[in-house]
Amino acid sequence: MIGRLNHVAIAVPDLEAAAAQYRTMLGANVGAPQDEPGHGVTVIFIELPNTKIELLYPLGEGSPIQGFLDKNPSGGIHHVCYEVDDILAARDHLKTEGARVLGDGEPKIGAHGKPVLFLHPKDFQGTLVELEQV
Ligand code: CO
Repeated sequence: MIGRLNHVAIAVPDLEAAAAQYRTMLGANVGAPQDEPGHGVTVIFIELPNTKIELLYPLGEGSPIQGFLDKNPSGGIHHVCYEVDDILAARDHLKTEGARVLGDGEPKIGAHGKPVLFLHPKDFQGTLVELEQV
């Protein structure tokens, strides 16, 4: 059911420093910051030949990333994102299999303008999983 690894998301305490490190130390193709008020994050995408890295930084009050950074002050891997062809079919299959979908269970438009869902980390080996319809 799942396809390509779309991205790995890393929560960072200093967005500019992280972007500069990927650009200069790692020689990666680093994009511009994008505010995503609906998700409470500012994101920077880093294009790698086979996938992307998504740097996440809190935006606004009550950002879900702030809580993560409070527990992981130096940052850390926040989620992985797998591509699916049909997000509603994927959701219904996962619910049948006993996995928990976060929020109201309806897909939201993610940072790439495509529908996304998040799955409970306790159901996936402690890893927050994002599904994106491509
Ligand atoms: Co993501």
